[in-house]
Amino acid sequence: MRKIVIAGNWKMNKTVAESVKLATDVVAAAQGIRSVVVIIAPTYLALAKVAEVVQGSNVKLAAQDVHWENQGAFTGKVSADMLKEIGVEYVIIGHSEQRTYFGETDATVNKKVRKVQSLDMTPIICIGETLAERKDGRLESVLTTQVNGAYEGLAADDALRTIIAYEPVWAIGTGVTASDDEAQQAHAFVRSLLAIRYGEDVAQSISIQYGGSMKPENAAGLLAQTDIDGGLIGGAALKADSFLGIVTPGESISK
Ligand code: PGA
Repeated sequence: MRKIVIAGNWKMNKTVAESVKLATDVVAAAQGIRSVVVIIAPTYLALAKVAEVVQGSNVKLAAQDVHWENQGAFTGKVSADMLKEIGVEYVIIGHSEQRTYFGETDATVNKKVRKVQSLDMTPIICIGETLAERKDGRLESVLTTQVNGAYEGLAADDALRTIIAYEPVWAIGTGVTASDDEAQQAHAFVRSLLAIRYGEDVAQSISIQYGGSMKPENAAGLLAQTDIDGGLIGGAALKADSFLGIVTPGESISK
Protein backbone atom coordinates (compact mmCIF):
# COMPACT_ATOMS: atom_id res chain seq x y z
CA MET A 1 0.00 0.00 0.00
CA ARG A 2 1.38 3.39 -0.98
CA LYS A 3 0.12 6.68 0.37
CA ILE A 4 -1.18 9.34 -1.99
CA VAL A 5 0.76 12.46 -1.03
CA ILE A 6 -0.20 15.89 -2.37
CA ALA A 7 2.16 18.74 -1.45
CA GLY A 8 1.79 22.43 -2.22
CA ASN A 9 5.11 24.09 -2.95
CA TRP A 10 4.45 27.79 -2.47
CA LYS A 11 7.95 28.75 -3.69
CA MET A 12 8.77 32.46 -3.17
CA ASN A 13 5.14 33.51 -2.95
CA LYS A 14 2.97 34.96 -0.16
CA THR A 15 3.93 37.26 2.68
CA VAL A 16 3.62 35.88 6.20
CA ALA A 17 0.11 37.31 6.55
CA GLU A 18 -0.90 35.91 3.16
CA SER A 19 0.59 32.55 4.08
CA VAL A 20 -1.41 32.40 7.30
CA LYS A 21 -4.55 33.17 5.33
CA LEU A 22 -3.88 30.52 2.68
CA ALA A 23 -2.94 27.93 5.31
CA THR A 24 -6.15 28.71 7.22
CA ASP A 25 -8.17 28.19 4.03
CA VAL A 26 -6.37 24.92 3.22
CA VAL A 27 -6.92 23.58 6.75
CA ALA A 28 -10.65 24.38 6.53
CA ALA A 29 -11.00 22.89 3.04
CA ALA A 30 -9.04 19.74 3.92
CA GLN A 31 -11.05 18.91 7.04
CA GLY A 32 -12.86 16.01 5.42
CA ILE A 33 -9.78 14.56 3.72
CA ARG A 34 -9.05 11.13 5.16
CA SER A 35 -6.60 9.11 3.09
CA VAL A 36 -4.52 11.65 1.15
CA VAL A 37 -1.52 13.09 2.97
CA VAL A 38 -1.88 16.87 2.50
CA ILE A 39 1.27 18.97 2.85
CA ILE A 40 1.98 22.68 2.42
CA ALA A 41 5.42 24.24 2.00
CA PRO A 42 5.48 28.00 2.69
CA THR A 43 8.64 30.11 2.68
CA TYR A 44 11.04 29.73 5.61
CA LEU A 45 9.84 33.07 6.92
CA ALA A 46 6.23 31.95 7.19
CA LEU A 47 6.87 28.45 8.55
CA ALA A 48 6.57 29.25 12.26
CA LYS A 49 3.26 31.09 11.90
CA VAL A 50 1.86 28.50 9.51
CA ALA A 51 2.90 25.77 11.97
CA GLU A 52 0.49 27.31 14.48
CA VAL A 53 -2.28 27.29 11.89
CA VAL A 54 -1.89 23.63 10.91
CA GLN A 55 -1.40 22.31 14.44
CA GLY A 56 -4.04 19.72 15.27
CA SER A 57 -5.29 19.58 11.67
CA ASN A 58 -4.70 16.97 8.99
CA VAL A 59 -2.43 19.34 7.03
CA LYS A 60 1.31 18.71 7.38
CA LEU A 61 4.14 21.20 7.13
CA ALA A 62 7.10 21.10 4.74
CA ALA A 63 10.10 23.33 4.18
CA GLN A 64 11.31 24.09 0.66
CA ASP A 65 14.98 23.39 1.36
CA VAL A 66 17.47 22.89 4.19
CA HIS A 67 21.22 23.02 4.79
CA TRP A 68 23.04 19.83 5.68
CA GLU A 69 25.20 21.28 8.46
CA ASN A 70 23.94 21.71 12.02
CA GLN A 71 24.88 25.37 12.42
CA GLY A 72 27.62 27.87 11.64
CA ALA A 73 28.84 30.35 9.07
CA PHE A 74 26.39 29.62 6.24
CA THR A 75 24.79 32.99 5.57
CA GLY A 76 21.24 32.73 4.34
CA LYS A 77 20.75 29.08 5.25
CA VAL A 78 18.51 27.21 7.67
CA SER A 79 19.37 23.97 9.45
CA ALA A 80 17.30 20.85 9.90
CA ASP A 81 16.95 21.15 13.67
CA MET A 82 15.61 24.69 13.27
CA LEU A 83 12.90 23.26 11.01
CA LYS A 84 12.23 20.34 13.31
CA GLU A 85 11.79 22.61 16.33
CA ILE A 86 8.83 24.42 14.78
CA GLY A 87 7.02 21.30 13.61
CA VAL A 88 8.23 20.73 10.03
CA GLU A 89 7.75 17.07 9.05
CA TYR A 90 8.75 17.08 5.36
CA VAL A 91 11.52 18.84 3.43
CA ILE A 92 11.60 19.36 -0.34
CA ILE A 93 15.13 18.59 -1.53
CA GLY A 94 16.74 19.03 -4.94
CA HIS A 95 13.98 21.00 -6.62
CA SER A 96 14.93 21.85 -10.19
CA GLU A 97 14.96 25.56 -9.32
CA GLN A 98 17.54 24.81 -6.63
CA ARG A 99 19.53 22.77 -9.12
CA THR A 100 19.30 25.40 -11.88
CA TYR A 101 19.75 28.64 -9.94
CA PHE A 102 21.50 27.73 -6.70
CA GLY A 103 24.04 25.07 -7.51
CA GLU A 104 22.28 22.04 -6.04
CA THR A 105 23.95 18.80 -7.09
CA ASP A 106 23.17 15.15 -6.53
CA ALA A 107 25.88 15.18 -3.85
CA THR A 108 24.27 18.04 -1.90
CA VAL A 109 20.87 16.40 -2.32
CA ASN A 110 22.28 13.27 -0.70
CA LYS A 111 23.75 15.21 2.24
CA LYS A 112 20.45 16.98 2.83
CA VAL A 113 18.46 13.74 2.64
CA ARG A 114 20.65 12.14 5.29
CA LYS A 115 20.48 15.16 7.58
CA VAL A 116 16.71 15.43 7.34
CA GLN A 117 16.28 11.71 8.01
CA SER A 118 18.59 11.87 11.01
CA LEU A 119 15.97 14.13 12.61
CA ASP A 120 13.05 11.92 11.59
CA MET A 121 11.72 14.27 8.96
CA THR A 122 10.78 12.96 5.51
CA PRO A 123 12.63 14.18 2.42
CA ILE A 124 10.69 14.83 -0.77
CA ILE A 125 13.44 14.21 -3.31
CA CYS A 126 12.92 16.05 -6.61
CA ILE A 127 14.24 14.65 -9.86
CA GLY A 128 13.49 15.29 -13.52
CA GLU A 129 14.92 15.96 -16.93
CA THR A 130 15.12 19.15 -18.97
CA LEU A 131 13.54 19.36 -22.41
CA ALA A 132 16.98 19.19 -24.06
CA GLU A 133 17.83 16.04 -22.10
CA ARG A 134 14.55 14.40 -23.09
CA LYS A 135 15.00 15.36 -26.76
CA ASP A 136 18.54 13.97 -26.70
CA GLY A 137 17.19 10.62 -25.49
CA ARG A 138 18.82 11.07 -22.09
CA LEU A 139 15.71 10.78 -19.92
CA GLU A 140 16.67 7.44 -18.42
CA SER A 141 20.32 8.27 -17.86
CA VAL A 142 19.46 11.56 -16.14
CA LEU A 143 16.92 9.90 -13.84
CA THR A 144 19.36 7.07 -13.09
CA THR A 145 22.09 9.50 -12.08
CA GLN A 146 19.72 11.57 -9.94
CA VAL A 147 18.18 8.59 -8.15
CA ASN A 148 21.50 6.88 -7.52
CA GLY A 149 23.02 10.15 -6.30
CA ALA A 150 20.17 10.93 -3.93
CA TYR A 151 20.04 7.42 -2.44
CA GLU A 152 23.80 6.88 -2.21
CA GLY A 153 24.53 5.15 1.11
CA LEU A 154 20.88 4.88 2.14
CA ALA A 155 19.79 1.50 3.47
CA ALA A 156 16.42 0.01 2.55
CA ASP A 157 14.90 1.22 5.85
CA ASP A 158 15.97 4.76 5.02
CA ALA A 159 14.67 4.49 1.47
CA LEU A 160 11.26 3.56 2.88
CA ARG A 161 11.22 6.91 4.68
CA THR A 162 11.54 8.95 1.47
CA ILE A 163 9.17 10.39 -1.09
CA ILE A 164 10.21 11.10 -4.68
CA ALA A 165 8.80 13.89 -6.82
CA TYR A 166 9.31 13.29 -10.53
CA GLU A 167 9.11 16.73 -12.11
CA PRO A 168 9.98 17.08 -15.78
CA VAL A 169 11.64 20.50 -15.80
CA TRP A 170 9.90 21.47 -19.06
CA ALA A 171 6.53 21.07 -17.34
CA ILE A 172 7.26 23.18 -14.26
CA GLY A 173 5.42 26.48 -14.28
CA THR A 174 4.95 26.31 -18.05
CA GLY A 175 1.35 25.16 -18.24
CA VAL A 176 2.59 22.19 -20.28
CA THR A 177 1.92 18.94 -18.43
CA ALA A 178 3.43 15.58 -19.26
CA SER A 179 0.71 13.38 -20.73
CA ASP A 180 -0.62 10.63 -18.49
CA ASP A 181 1.41 8.11 -20.51
CA GLU A 182 4.64 10.12 -20.51
CA ALA A 183 4.39 10.61 -16.76
CA GLN A 184 3.50 6.97 -16.08
CA GLN A 185 6.45 5.74 -18.15
CA ALA A 186 8.90 7.93 -16.28
CA HIS A 187 7.41 6.93 -12.91
CA ALA A 188 7.61 3.23 -13.78
CA PHE A 189 11.23 3.73 -14.75
CA VAL A 190 12.02 5.50 -11.47
CA ARG A 191 10.35 2.68 -9.56
CA SER A 192 12.44 0.15 -11.49
CA LEU A 193 15.58 2.02 -10.37
CA LEU A 194 14.41 1.73 -6.75
CA ALA A 195 13.75 -1.98 -7.31
CA ILE A 196 17.29 -2.48 -8.58
CA ARG A 197 18.69 -0.77 -5.47
CA TYR A 198 16.31 -2.09 -2.83
CA GLY A 199 14.18 -4.88 -4.28
CA GLU A 200 10.62 -4.90 -5.51
CA ASP A 201 8.88 -4.75 -2.10
CA VAL A 202 10.66 -1.56 -1.07
CA ALA A 203 10.20 -0.02 -4.52
CA GLN A 204 6.47 -0.74 -4.37
CA SER A 205 6.21 1.02 -1.00
CA ILE A 206 7.75 4.39 -1.93
CA SER A 207 5.35 7.14 -3.02
CA ILE A 208 6.37 8.88 -6.25
CA GLN A 209 4.67 12.22 -6.84
CA TYR A 210 4.28 13.90 -10.21
CA GLY A 211 5.04 17.62 -10.49
CA GLY A 212 4.81 20.10 -13.35
CA SER A 213 1.68 22.12 -14.12
CA MET A 214 -0.57 19.69 -12.26
CA LYS A 215 -4.00 21.23 -11.76
CA PRO A 216 -7.59 20.18 -11.02
CA GLU A 217 -8.25 19.56 -14.74
CA ASN A 218 -5.48 16.98 -15.15
CA ALA A 219 -5.10 15.61 -11.62
CA ALA A 220 -7.55 12.71 -11.84
CA GLY A 221 -5.95 11.37 -15.03
CA LEU A 222 -2.43 11.56 -13.65
CA LEU A 223 -3.34 10.12 -10.24
CA ALA A 224 -5.08 7.18 -11.90
CA GLN A 225 -1.77 6.00 -13.39
CA THR A 226 -0.33 2.90 -11.75
CA ASP A 227 2.91 4.48 -10.55
CA ILE A 228 1.79 8.05 -9.82
CA ASP A 229 1.17 8.42 -6.10
CA GLY A 230 0.43 12.08 -5.66
CA GLY A 231 1.63 15.47 -6.75
CA LEU A 232 4.00 18.31 -5.98
CA ILE A 233 2.03 21.37 -6.90
CA GLY A 234 3.34 24.88 -7.55
CA GLY A 235 1.00 27.41 -9.16
CA ALA A 236 -2.22 25.55 -8.44
CA ALA A 237 -1.34 25.31 -4.74
CA LEU A 238 -1.53 29.07 -4.27
CA LYS A 239 -5.31 28.97 -3.93
CA ALA A 240 -7.08 26.63 -1.51
CA ASP A 241 -9.83 25.68 -3.95
CA SER A 242 -7.54 24.68 -6.82
CA PHE A 243 -5.21 22.85 -4.40
CA LEU A 244 -8.14 20.89 -2.97
CA GLY A 245 -9.30 20.27 -6.51
CA ILE A 246 -6.15 18.15 -6.85
CA VAL A 247 -6.31 16.60 -3.38
CA THR A 248 -9.93 15.47 -3.61
CA PRO A 249 -9.59 13.07 -6.59
CA GLY A 250 -6.79 11.39 -4.66
CA GLU A 251 -9.26 10.34 -1.95
CA SER A 252 -10.88 7.71 -4.14
CA ILE A 253 -7.60 6.17 -5.35
CA SER A 254 -5.66 3.43 -3.66
CA LYS A 255 -2.30 2.02 -4.76
P1 PGA B 1 4.06 24.02 -11.05
O1 PGA B 1 5.32 23.76 -10.10
O2 PGA B 1 2.92 23.21 -10.51
O3 PGA B 1 3.80 25.49 -10.96
O4 PGA B 1 4.45 23.59 -12.43
C1 PGA B 1 5.59 22.47 -9.59
C2 PGA B 1 6.88 22.49 -8.81
O5 PGA B 1 7.83 23.17 -9.22
O6 PGA B 1 7.00 21.83 -7.77
